[in-house]
Amino acid sequence: MNTPSSKALINQEQKISFRRICFLSIATLASLILLWKIGNFKQDPFITETLSIQGEALSGSKLFKINCVGCHGISAQGFVGPDLHEATKELSDQKIINQVIRGLTPPMPSFEIEPQSMADLLAYMHSLNQ
Ligand code: HEC
Repeated sequence: MNTPSSKALINQEQKISFRRICFLSIATLASLILLWKIGNFKQDPFITETLSIQGEALSGSKLFKINCVGCHGISAQGFVGPDLHEATKELSDQKIINQVIRGLTPPMPSFEIEPQSMADLLAYMHSLNQ
């Protein structure tokens, strides 16, 4: 059985299956990356709803005084957390909403908040930047 030609055949088969495994792994990795990217682009329903609501800066400023001044200062000038006067210039509304509801950057906590209140807070932050 072990003639040189049958050995060569086995080697070649091994090479092919090795290539196939490499190809399949790369294809799997590529589709995972693609799925991940699509997931990032798909907008969170909370964000979509918040952005569809017209916010009220005055009620946003009240919410801010209750929830945010401890860290961002009484007039959002910055304290433990940064000054927020330029926040809406530097960050998209989506990013600001994420910042408030996700708690990704401790010590800032995540807030459980209604879309209407979030829209009000956004309106208040936009008003700081005028
Ligand atoms: C316990 C303290 C704390 C509270 C309460 C808090 N924050 Fe923050 N906030 C921070 C800190 C600290 C950062 C900076 C986080 C980082 O990026 O490292 C931050 C960052 C932010 C940013 C991003 C600013 C930027 O320029 O990157 C926004 C917007 C923000 N906070 C809004 C709010 C709002 C609105 C509230 C109230 C609903 C709030 N924060 C309550 C501490 C706090």
